[in-house]
Formats: sequence, structure tokens, C-alpha cells
Amino acid sequence: MTTSSAPTPRPALPMHPYADRYSVHATMPEQGVPREQILRELQEMSALEDRKGDSGRVSGSIYSGDHDHYSFLVKAFEHYAHANVLQRDMYPSATKMESEIIAMTADMLHGDDDTGGLVTSGGTESLVTAMLTYREWGHNKKGITHPQVIMPVTAHPAHSKAFHYFGIDAVIAPVTAEQVVDLDFVRDHIGPNTVALVGTAGTYPHGLIDPIAQLGQLALEHGIGLHVDGCLGGFVLPWARDLGYDHTSFDLAVPGVTSISADTHKYGYALKGSSVLLFRPKALRREQYRVIDGWPGGMYASPSMGGSRSGGLIAATWASMLNMGKTGYRSIAADIFRTAGEIKEAVRAHPELTLIGDSLFNVAFRSDVVDIFHVNDGLADRGWRMNGLQLPPALHFCVTRPNTQEGVTEAFAHDLAEAVAYAKDPPSPMPKSGAMYGAGGSERPALDQILSAVADRLDAMNEVGRQQ
Ligand SMILES: Cc1ncc(COP(=O)(O)O)c(C=O)c1O
Repeated sequence: MTTSSAPTPRPALPMHPYADRYSVHATMPEQGVPREQILRELQEMSALEDRKGDSGRVSGSIYSGDHDHYSFLVKAFEHYAHANVLQRDMYPSATKMESEIIAMTADMLHGDDDTGGLVTSGGTESLVTAMLTYREWGHNKKGITHPQVIMPVTAHPAHSKAFHYFGIDAVIAPVTAEQVVDLDFVRDHIGPNTVALVGTAGTYPHGLIDPIAQLGQLALEHGIGLHVDGCLGGFVLPWARDLGYDHTSFDLAVPGVTSISADTHKYGYALKGSSVLLFRPKALRREQYRVIDGWPGGMYASPSMGGSRSGGLIAATWASMLNMGKTGYRSIAADIFRTAGEIKEAVRAHPELTLIGDSLFNVAFRSDVVDIFHVNDGLADRGWRMNGLQLPPALHFCVTRPNTQEGVTEAFAHDLAEAVAYAKDPPSPMPKSGAMYGAGGSERPALDQILSAVADRLDAMNEVGRQQ
């Protein structure tokens, strides 16, 4: 292989933050770039970018942070990197691994003999698939043509994507002052078209658990489904009881829960791109199967939305779960719960701040005294990446393994005190940060900024193209 032309310095564009260091590839290179160069660039960029997460000052996002664990997962991935598990006969081992991932998750979440599941590409696919399942179930079993799902306002937006994709009417239930679903509202709104209820075990905003037992009762009374979104909490909350925390049940142990999602790529410490969706009864899983038999390419069937799927991700997920075992998960959960406790203490030390609920792992707080986003600005200036929330404006610190390192909570307590002082006398009335999911509360977004983000991306690409 020959080397491509030397990097040409270009003005940094928003979508090309490395334009001053590396070539910008707005077109495919005629001659392939040597592997060593590609790997060097990747190594340099990732090492630089990992520093932030590894520092322990980031809320959520990086769940394990153990680079030895990642190397092990990558080795597991390597054996199956090329394997397409759509071709079942080619890779029977993938069937073994997938069914064991489902079985291990069902064991952790108190499934029974009538529990079945799917391995999906992430939390969003698990939730979207669950919603599709209930729509199909309502249609096939009850003849419902205008399906309706009732979910709390705090439930993840992936549900809303599903409602939009699949023409499901959403009834958004308010939450109580405790930020969990208002059961009276749910009870009052169940009607003949309701196919399912949604509750969350470990809400994204506040890490709280909706009253799953009561939702289960309602689901049973009305003969409808109940999906529990355990995408975030599903692999960390199960260990709370073992560790001596007083904790209510939220999983398949609860009568009336008919499906639950739990993300292996979050607190399951697998590589990104995997999640588990469990159904009880098992037969519910069939509702979302699609068999297309009149296609010239042959009779087509796949167990979930994806077509071709990576054997590597299944192998890495299986390897992570098997290697962690219950002891491994429990031990990290203990560190996470302890760290979250210390962060709550740091927040409680400030009368200006109010904790929202009492999550074991995801500490949310707001303020009636200062603008909470000024507090966030003060923390961001000191290297912390919190998540900004809205309705009400608040911040959360979703504790993951990197945050459990020694010294992190002490540093947080120190910097929080400085950030609160900053917020009491801010340099400008308008904070720099705001509540933008996935942006770490780092920028105060305007709606038009969000809407134009996609267009900006295309413009940036075209601009680079024109400069070539
Ligand atoms: C409660 C909850 N559900 C679903 C999701 C969506 O997961 P993913 O980003 O893997 O699609 C998240 C993501 O943080 C979450 O917190």
C-alpha cells in the first residue's frame, strides 16, 4: 500500500475537530491509507478522548472504564468480528451465546420457565421492539386498531420514537412530587385501546423506580402488558438487596410485568451495541416476528428488527457476563452505591441544593436558590461533566465504575462547594450550560440549534468537499 498525501492544514470545522492534526477525508482516498497510520491516529484520538472518562469526573456514559476488561472483550470480539449471526447454521456458537446471555439476564431478573428474550443493539432497540410487540399483541389478540400506551413523562424518549414509528397513541402520565408515575392518572386513563403500561426501573433523569408492583396490579386487572424499562438500572439495581439496601422489586418477580429491558452495554459492562429484552410469557416475543415469504430472495425471517448482526458483539457480551459473574457485578455495584451515597452527602451539605429522590446510583439535585445551570458551569469549569435535566431544571450524576476511584467524591465535594459559591454570584445572569440530553449539560441549546444540527453536519461535510 502507498501512503496518502500529507495532511493539508484546514480551518477547523465543527464536525472535524482534528482538522489541524490529521487529513480530513471528505472523499475516499484513491490509494488506501496504511494500517499503521490509521491505527496510530485512532490510538492517539481515543487516548486523548478517554482521559476525561477515565478521570472519574464524568456522569454516566462510560460504565466500566476498566481497560483490561475492554482488552478482554475485544479479544472475545475478535474471534467473531466477521461473523454474521443472521446465518444461524454458520455460527451455532452464536446461538449458544445468545441464548445464554438471555438465560443469565433472566436469572438475574427473576424470570421463570416461561421467560424468553432477544439480544438487541441497545436500549432504544429494546424499547422500540417492546412497544411494537404490544401493538401487535393488541391487534392480534384483541383486535385493537388504535393502540394506546400509557407511560410516565420521565420514561425514556425511545418509547416516543416507537409511538411515532408505529402509530401508537401515547398517553403521557405526570409524575408525583416524588418524581415517580402518578398511579391515579394511569388508573383513570386505561381504556379499551390500552395495550400496555410502561414503568422505569432507574429513570434516566433521577434514577428512580416507578411503583412497579402497583402498575403490575393494574396491568393484571385490565389484562394488558407492562413493560419495565430497566435499560439503565437493570444490571446494577438487582444487587441492591444482596448488599443490604432496602429495595423494592422491579423485575419479573413482580406479578403483571410482561417484559423488561436491561442494557448489557451499560452496567453489564459489555461493548456498546447490546441490550437484552425479556418477555413473559415467552410467546409474547413472537408477536414482533416478521416472516416475509413472497420475496424473490427467499423466505425471510429474523428474530428481531436487525438483519445481519455482529457475532463479535454477542461474543463480547457473553464474555463480559460470564467473566463478571454475580460476584463481579455485586462488587462493582457496592462501590457504585457507596460512591453515590458520598455524592448525596456532598449535595446535602449545601442548603441551596435539594436532592430529587434517593436513588442508589443516579444522584439528581435541583435548587430553589441559585440557577442550577450556574452550578453546572462552575462544575464544568473544574472538569466535571454532569447531565443537565429539565422539568424541573436539575443536574444528575449517574455514578459508574470510573467514579468509584479513590479521591473522586472528595474532589467532587470540594468543587461542588466552589460551584455553589460561583452560582451565588455568577459573572452573567445567563448560564453557559443547559439541559441537552447527551451533551453533558455543556451547552444551553436553543430549539433551532438542535433542529439545525443535522443540516450543519451536512453543510460542514460539503464545505470540506468544496475545499478539496
Ligand atoms: C432509562 C433508559 N432507557 C433507555 C435508554 C436508551 O438506551 P440507549 O442509549 O442504549 O439506546 C437509556 C439511556 O440512557 C436510559 O437511561
